This record gives sequence, C-alpha cells and structure tokens, in this order.
Amino acid sequence: MFPRGREQKGDEWYKLTSKRLFPRGRVVFFVTSNVHKFNEARRVLAEYKVATALLNIKALEIQDNNLESIAKASAINAVEKCSLPIIVEDAGLFIEVLSSFPGPYSSYVHQTIGNRGILRLMEKVEKRDAYFHSVVAFCSPEEPPKCFHGKVKGKISHEERGSLGFGFDPIFEPLGGRGKTFAEMTITQKNRYSHRARALRRFARWYTSSP
Ligand code: IMP
Repeated sequence: MFPRGREQKGDEWYKLTSKRLFPRGRVVFFVTSNVHKFNEARRVLAEYKVATALLNIKALEIQDNNLESIAKASAINAVEKCSLPIIVEDAGLFIEVLSSFPGPYSSYVHQTIGNRGILRLMEKVEKRDAYFHSVVAFCSPEEPPKCFHGKVKGKISHEERGSLGFGFDPIFEPLGGRGKTFAEMTITQKNRYSHRARALRRFARWYTSSP
C-alpha cells in the first residue's frame, strides 16, 4: 500500500500523505479493542458515508474524573503511535442514587463487581435513574483532539435481561425503549438511543462538513 522508500522518510511521510490516502470526511480509524463498540460505530458512521476501520493498538488510558480528559489523552497517544486520523471513545455509566458511581471507573467496576454487583447495590432501591455518557475524541497528525459528547437517560433494571451487546447492556433500559434493556436490542435498535451513537452522529456531522 505504501510506496517503497517510506521508511527513509519517517513520520513526515505519513503526515504529508495521510490526508491524501485517507480523505477527511470519508474514512476514519477507530482505535479500540472492543469489537462491539466498533460494530456500533461503523453502522452509525456509514449513515454519513464515512468508512470506519478498526485499529487495535493499545492507547494510553489515564485515570481521571473527567471522561473528556481521558478521551483526549488517549487520542493524542494513539496519533503519536500511528500518525493517522483517528477517533477514540470513552464512556461510563452514571447511577443517580449512587452519586454517579461508577462513572469514569465503569470499566474497572464492570470487571470487578460486574452487573450482579451493581444489582446488589441497587437492591430495594426504587429510584433507578441512570445515564450513559460517551465522549468521542477525534485527532489527526495535523490537529489537536476535538471532542463530541452523547448521553442517554434510562433506568437500571431489576434483573439482567438479554444476551446481545456488552458491559452493562443487560441492566440498562434506555428512556423510550419500551422497557427493553440494551442487551435485548439489535445494534440498529441500540443505535437509535445510545450515548455512543449520539456522540458519533455529532462527530460525523462535523467531520463530513469541515474542509
Ligand atoms: P470504556 O472505558 O469506554 O471502554 O467503558 C467503560 C465501561 O463502561 C465498559 O467496560 C463497559 O462495561 C461500560 N460501557 C461503556 N459503554 C457501554 C455500552 O454501550 N453498553 C454497556 N456498557 C458500556
């Protein structure tokens, strides 16, 4: 794919040619190791005729109380590693009665106490409001990171339901989703409501309209 002699020219070669090979608004690399996230994203971006490629490189994930700071740090680190126009995404589940726990620590909490642990914390709790928040950060060799946000309100279910999706999908019922959890929805249905789809649509509108 790359002309011979690229090696001698080093990073500068990528910087000069990445724009031409991967035209802005037409193709973007999604840096993630989560294939579910990728499948959701590629369908949303296809609505805008943007092709999405999965780039499974390990980008730095800092600990911070703020999703945007985490996403920006990952985006900068990913571009340093690959010199391509990329997006990264960071998301979290915020449960009202638990003072927004697990929020930016969602990944760790899901790996440790999991959905059952969350349901135990919510036993006998009537007020089950929660929301997902997603931050998509775009960055390229020519530009600093730019962030796009998406949120979806909903409720924590009383039990795990459904086998689709990933993470907290079996215990989250989005508002307007007729009581179904995300794990009971196809990707197309989830994309009608999800935090990630909303952030990605904001990104896609900007990406396909800016020169
Ligand atoms: P990440 O750091 O963006 O990968 O997200 C943190 C954690 O939040 C993930 O490990 C999932 O457990 C959870 N999460 C993020 N987005 C979703 C989603 O769309 N559905 C269910 N769980 C999610």
